[in-house]
Amino acid sequence: MRIPDLIQKKRDGGQHTEAELRTLILDYVNGQVPDYQVAAWLMAVFFKGMTAEETTYLTLAMAESGDMLDLSSLSHTVDKHSTGGVGDKTSLVLTPMLAALGLTVAKMSGRGLAHTGGTIDKLESIPGWSPVLADEPFLKQAREIGLALVGQSKNLAPADGLLYALRDVTATVDCLPLIASSIMSKKLAAGAKTIVLDVKVGSGAFMKTLEDGRKLAEAMVNIGKLSGRNVRAVLTDMETPLGFMTGNTLEVLEAISTLKGEGPEDLRELCLALAKETLLAEGFSEEEADRRPREVLKDGSALAKLRAFVASQGGDPRYIDDPSLFHVAPETVEVKAGQSGFIAHIEALKIGQALLVLGGGRETKGEAIDHSVGIELLHKIGDAVEAGQPIARIYHNQKGKDAAFTLVQEALRIDAAKPAEMPLILGHIS
Ligand code: URA
Repeated sequence: MRIPDLIQKKRDGGQHTEAELRTLILDYVNGQVPDYQVAAWLMAVFFKGMTAEETTYLTLAMAESGDMLDLSSLSHTVDKHSTGGVGDKTSLVLTPMLAALGLTVAKMSGRGLAHTGGTIDKLESIPGWSPVLADEPFLKQAREIGLALVGQSKNLAPADGLLYALRDVTATVDCLPLIASSIMSKKLAAGAKTIVLDVKVGSGAFMKTLEDGRKLAEAMVNIGKLSGRNVRAVLTDMETPLGFMTGNTLEVLEAISTLKGEGPEDLRELCLALAKETLLAEGFSEEEADRRPREVLKDGSALAKLRAFVASQGGDPRYIDDPSLFHVAPETVEVKAGQSGFIAHIEALKIGQALLVLGGGRETKGEAIDHSVGIELLHKIGDAVEAGQPIARIYHNQKGKDAAFTLVQEALRIDAAKPAEMPLILGHIS
């Protein structure tokens, strides 16, 4: 099989076989196919697309290019993936809920990059908590508590790392089959039988329109079906940040209060929707999938799972019992309403960028971050505000405070008319 023939086949609109895609990907990872040939092939894919079968074969080849986690000793393994957003602390609430529902979450999570946050950074706000666990303790904890969460220590889907870097410099990132295979290859390699995807749509997300979000969700659900996993997706709004808090420690605080049955309505709604989708995928009835997630929030069992999980990974559980122990940046500055009216828009991207300039996020991999800084929104879209009233609070340690102030000010728009209500959940794909 000659690589120029494969490039030509795709260039001319042909369809690859499983063997062709496997050869291309595995030989590329082994260093036998140079970047320039793969770059030409990526551009051909960009213009000619891929069928559902091709996308699945590509995904499987990428998943199998490195370690495949073996979770077969665990029962009811479930995983959740968000395509990334601002203030998205859903995993911190949802994963203990799923454990309390009797499912097993043995999950690898990422760190934040650019304006989107990462679960590992958020959890590292809890003193002592470590994202590092060897294989045996990882499986044991997942079996006993139902929840173990580690950083990306394994060599999962190395083909994706190589392809992503090449896509980045060849203008082939925004190509649906390539995005779908990139996300799903890592999820398949991570081993869970059931995968629930939160596909974010809007200015703070990777997919800017509902139509694009739906196509991506359909492609990923399809890959899951064709590769023998239970995959469902929920399309959710990411025009505005989720909840009130953005920033690592602040988000942990908001997650704890949501697990106590308090917390912001939108975060609670999303966690209930994702838990329901997971239970439906696991074969529960519609009635149970609706009822049981509410129960584990109400009876404290989800919060108890978070406490046990934190303690088991070295974290100090007193912080879960008494969140006032958390260190939040002591200096604050408030953004005030420039006019009376209604909060009409809160631009997620700008809030994410404000966190970045405060030092709470990273521009490049490996940078240290300040967990204590962040932005607290004091209002949601549709709230009436008076001129001069505080509408957001910035917690800072001096770094970037002026730039963050400008960004938060720009992110918040006030109109004279009350805006139409926007739903959070935009669709379901199964
Ligand atoms: N996230 C990924 O993991 N891969 C992409 O290609 C896009 C978003």
